[in-house]
Amino acid sequence: MSHINVDHEKCISDSICAAECPARLIRMDRDERYPIPVKDFEDICFRCGHCVAVCPTGAISFEWLSPEDCTPIRQELAITPEQAEQFLCSRRSVRVSQDKPVPRDILEKLLEIACMAPSAKNEQPWHWIVVEDPAEVRRLAGMVVHWMRGIVQANPHDESLVGFVRAVSSWDEGYDRICRGAPHVVVAHADRNWGFGAEDCALALSNLDLYGTSRGLGACWAGYLYHAINACPPLFEALGLPEGHRAFGAMMVGYPGVRYERIPLRRKPRVTWK
Ligand SMILES: Cc1cc2nc3c(=O)[nH]c(=O)nc-3n(C[C@H](O)[C@H](O)[C@H](O)COP(=O)(O)O)c2cc1C
Repeated sequence: MSHINVDHEKCISDSICAAECPARLIRMDRDERYPIPVKDFEDICFRCGHCVAVCPTGAISFEWLSPEDCTPIRQELAITPEQAEQFLCSRRSVRVSQDKPVPRDILEKLLEIACMAPSAKNEQPWHWIVVEDPAEVRRLAGMVVHWMRGIVQANPHDESLVGFVRAVSSWDEGYDRICRGAPHVVVAHADRNWGFGAEDCALALSNLDLYGTSRGLGACWAGYLYHAINACPPLFEALGLPEGHRAFGAMMVGYPGVRYERIPLRRKPRVTWK
């Protein structure tokens, strides 16, 4: 049930909720006094919570969300454009980690913030596997290398496998290119049939990465691992993904073993103005 409750004592008839509803499911009543749901509201509402978030007087609530459930936005915590620019531009993919585990409560907080990412239709399709044990991260990296080695051996002349060849020979030399010696790995997975799984999970992982940076952590996409999970059934099983799901991203997480002093250049925007 998703019935909309409007507190008539608090409602100031500003109709902001109606204007804000992305699915246009809220209208003002005949007297333009109070918001009312359109027919089929309950079936169509995707619970983004915008009407509750935007109401200046906290007049709207649902069984599943009330203004009191929501964290107030503290304007004094807003960051400046200058801070945002440095923060976003100085985030790096961290591939050198300290030999120090990240406490469980911090990993939990990363996931909480990851789950605040936007998702198509507010589906929030992500599920998470956190590999907390560094020895297990290493074992999984070894499984990826084993899978890569088999592919390289079966296709010795395939030049597109150069990345695999390098990863295998690095492993044999004692360096892990798969998980880079990170203590933890976070895998995002979702129903394989959800059409926006890749976008939604990437955005959630990006939140995790950025928030982690603010907490003094370092993360890096584990592209080889992520790819291998979907292509190598033993790895899929070892991680315990449910049937019908697929991995949509994976990240290494740890405390950085290096500090960046400057921001590298990027290509200028390749843009067409119309
Ligand atoms: C989808 C994706 C997969 C990636 N896979 C890997 C990976 O397997 N190993 C790795 O070391 N870096 C990986 N990266 C990190 C990129 O190499 C990195 O983002 C890029 O070089 C830019 O560096 P920066 O993130 O520090 O700005 C991946 C990044 C993305 C977005």
